[in-house]
Amino acid sequence: MYTSKITGLGYYVPENVVTNDDLAKLMDTSDAWIQERTGIQERRHIKKGDGNSTSVMAVKASKIALERSNLEPDSIDMIVFATLSPDMYFPGGGVEVQEMMGMRTIPALDVRNQCSGFIYALSVADQFIKTGMYKNILVIGSENHSGGLDFSDRGRSVSVIFGDGAGAAVVSRNETGAGGILSTHLHSEGKHKNELALQGPSTRHWVPEIIAENPQENIPYYPVMNGQFVFKHAVVRFTEVIQEGLQANNLGLEDIDLLIPHQANLRIAQFIQQKLRLTDDQVFNNIQKYGNTTAASIPIALTEAWEAGKIKEGDLVVLAAFGSGFTWGSAIIRW
Ligand code: ACO
Repeated sequence: MYTSKITGLGYYVPENVVTNDDLAKLMDTSDAWIQERTGIQERRHIKKGDGNSTSVMAVKASKIALERSNLEPDSIDMIVFATLSPDMYFPGGGVEVQEMMGMRTIPALDVRNQCSGFIYALSVADQFIKTGMYKNILVIGSENHSGGLDFSDRGRSVSVIFGDGAGAAVVSRNETGAGGILSTHLHSEGKHKNELALQGPSTRHWVPEIIAENPQENIPYYPVMNGQFVFKHAVVRFTEVIQEGLQANNLGLEDIDLLIPHQANLRIAQFIQQKLRLTDDQVFNNIQKYGNTTAASIPIALTEAWEAGKIKEGDLVVLAAFGSGFTWGSAIIRW
């Protein structure tokens, strides 16, 4: 059986920086409230007319990842695209990337697992490489949140958290046989689906009905989140799935060189770090600059950590995520 490894990483965030003070001009919030509750100082938002979209950002990140893996678009055998904010209701973003990058008629698969999307997508790529079916797979997480958030007082508890951006990884057959993706671990618990959700438009919440039932208020095509409930479940599931991944490989917490948790909220990451007794050097966070970019947060953080020289060959890198669904997962990687 083959194994897989990450051979190239890239990220892209829009140039438009939106600070907490900028948001305070739109809604009743403050820099102090946002920083204290989430650790976020600023995020990036697509600006009308800047040419960006979920798929366009995905392509920008992917081009960097491909260049770093020394591969041409023609060498990619499959695209796995994780997003909760595709440019269109259907088709998904994967086919747009295939078109924009002039790729062969390779399969393009969209993954709908919100904050856990990148881990799920990485796991899918890993399985296709393990079976020997494909050699090089482009795995993407990309999100345009700013286009779908409520920036009035009504939406303030959700809209201050999220930002736009994209990250990409080229996952290739591990020709050396050493290291690579050791294992991935995925979970879901659908009974909590309404705790963090965007209900419509969908076949259950169709646009004409939504407008008829909600003349102006509480329109369910903005995301809703039971923040404290999410927080409580996140810290439990994050720690469980990190330990599950380590145990599956006969490794311990002391073996982790770098943990990159999905950048949900700095307080969640700090809570996990404390619970697992990890040192500051073992955990990488960048939510302060980008907010929560859901499926894009792990590949953006992984790329930044790699660019900063925080990941060296032979390091044990652990990725972990939790989010809407609920879904959660981890990936254990020997770099
Ligand atoms: N600015 C100022 N005040 C606000 C804001 C805001 N942006 N949003 C809410 N408030 C107010 C509320 O109205 C409430 O006021 P009240 O006491 O007068 O009723 C008060 O602040 C406290 O509201 P809570 O919702 O209880 O605030 P809490 O301390 O729980 O913090 C938060 C909210 C940050 C969302 C927190 O619950 C949290 O961190 N949850 C984790 C969820 C999370 O991180 N989600 C990220 C996405 S999911 C994921 O990626 C896993």
